[in-house]
Amino acid sequence: MVSGPHPKFPHLFAPFVLNGVQLRNRVAISGHFAGWYVGPGGLPSDELAAYIVERGRGGAGLFVIGSNVPVPGYDWIENTSDAIIPRYRAIADAARPTGIAVFAQLCHPGFFPLPGPPRVTPPPRAQPTIATSRGPARRRPPADELRAIFRAFGDAARRVREGGLDGVELHAHEFFLHAQLLSPVWNDRDDAYGGSLENRLRGLVETLQAMREAVGRDFVVGVRLKAADMLPGGMDAEEYCEVLQRLEQLGLVDYVNLSGGDAHFHHGPMPRPEGEWLGLIRQHRAATRLPIMHAGRLSTPELAERALAEGVIDIAVMTKTHIADAHFTRKVFEGRTDDIRFCTRCLQSCHGNLWRMTCVYNPLTGREKEWSQLPPASAPKRVIVVGAGPAGMEAALTAAQRGHRVTVLEQADRVGGQIWAGAASPLRRPWARIAEFYERQARKGLFEVRLGARATAEALLAARPDAVIVATGSR
Ligand SMILES: Cc1cc2nc3c(=O)[nH]c(=O)nc-3n(C[C@H](O)[C@H](O)[C@H](O)COP(=O)(O)O)c2cc1C
Ligand code: SF4
Repeated sequence: MVSGPHPKFPHLFAPFVLNGVQLRNRVAISGHFAGWYVGPGGLPSDELAAYIVERGRGGAGLFVIGSNVPVPGYDWIENTSDAIIPRYRAIADAARPTGIAVFAQLCHPGFFPLPGPPRVTPPPRAQPTIATSRGPARRRPPADELRAIFRAFGDAARRVREGGLDGVELHAHEFFLHAQLLSPVWNDRDDAYGGSLENRLRGLVETLQAMREAVGRDFVVGVRLKAADMLPGGMDAEEYCEVLQRLEQLGLVDYVNLSGGDAHFHHGPMPRPEGEWLGLIRQHRAATRLPIMHAGRLSTPELAERALAEGVIDIAVMTKTHIADAHFTRKVFEGRTDDIRFCTRCLQSCHGNLWRMTCVYNPLTGREKEWSQLPPASAPKRVIVVGAGPAGMEAALTAAQRGHRVTVLEQADRVGGQIWAGAASPLRRPWARIAEFYERQARKGLFEVRLGARATAEALLAARPDAVIVATGSR
């Protein structure tokens, strides 16, 4: 069910209706792209469908498919012909029985690299900033070309609707085409699309008009915007509030999904505070009656519940939270927080590895098609795992869940291995969440962990196991 009155998180599990689409709860997974989303012909892959279905089973209310491009020539999902309609249909048909609503996000990468010299140095973070697209370089497209692109968004939105998905969203945050047009940091045009805010907003409005005309009034259209540019010379929160008010007056969108500034900021490196931008979002809340979704390290149910209860946001976006654990929402609903793999915000295997996205401590992520339904072992075996670091503990957990009898031997006095060395830095404390997850799993008794136990060859032979997994790390 994952919906309805909840003693601890009443707001989080309250349903919400967006232009006729019922979301079973207030938990959304915002657009996020992985290379393996793209199947043959640039169309959505079976792996993507399985990934969404798993998050549907896991209880979230909404999944937004990131980065569908309405013009050819990019290496994201290509929504450029009606060939995509049956692929969307396959996703809708597979996801609907799980109860999750699915939107598609339309995005044009813009014209890379961004015009002009870089104006800021990205703040330090765990991973170097990566260019996520091979767009054409340093070009200021003529107005006619822009208008053709905006019309292509209309065609693409129609395909989303005809494919049976529940809504469509325009990507206008970070630093892609619509953000490049909106923000004076990048927009140095001197035509109808540059200069005043009204002009810089024109591209966004014309695109949303094309999308709205294509899908009609009775289909969800949303927009993803930054709360503020957070760049020198960029737009501040007040100007973004003006944008929201203008969009609300025009009646073009059913919701706005606000992120906290550019990717460097809305992801943020590990030490940044959780829910960091909620204070800023209060300004937008006061400026508009549009339903607000917000993403930005809302990593605990308590934090999301508070933001919803205070009315700052209407829908809590918890994206990496569900990259790390597809069943986060259901586990919260059922009070099984011990079983949650809490995201560490390390970015190492997701945003830092976009083309092969997975999670640094959840091997299922990205492999749902093959592994989400692990069958019980036909012949349970006696397995010894040597080493209680993340690899050993994950092997033990998986083997035990399949019905094998597992013992982990660890010579140290606690589970977690090298994770603790990483977590010793005050700036890297969230690494500890990995070790803590395995500690909690070990305490459940599904398998045995012997601490302070040295695995000598004699001891292993004497135990007569069927299999030994050596997970003592690399040197
Ligand atoms: C692997 C990855 C890919 C992403 N791709 C997109 C994208 O295609 N479109 C988008 O709007 N945001 C994208 N994002 C940003 C997320 O939607 C979200 O704003 C971000 O993860 C912060 O929210 P969180 O703290 O809940 O994870 C991506 C994030 C990740 C981790
Ligand atoms: S790789 Fe790191 S940041 Fe990404 S989902 Fe996993 S724990 Fe979170």
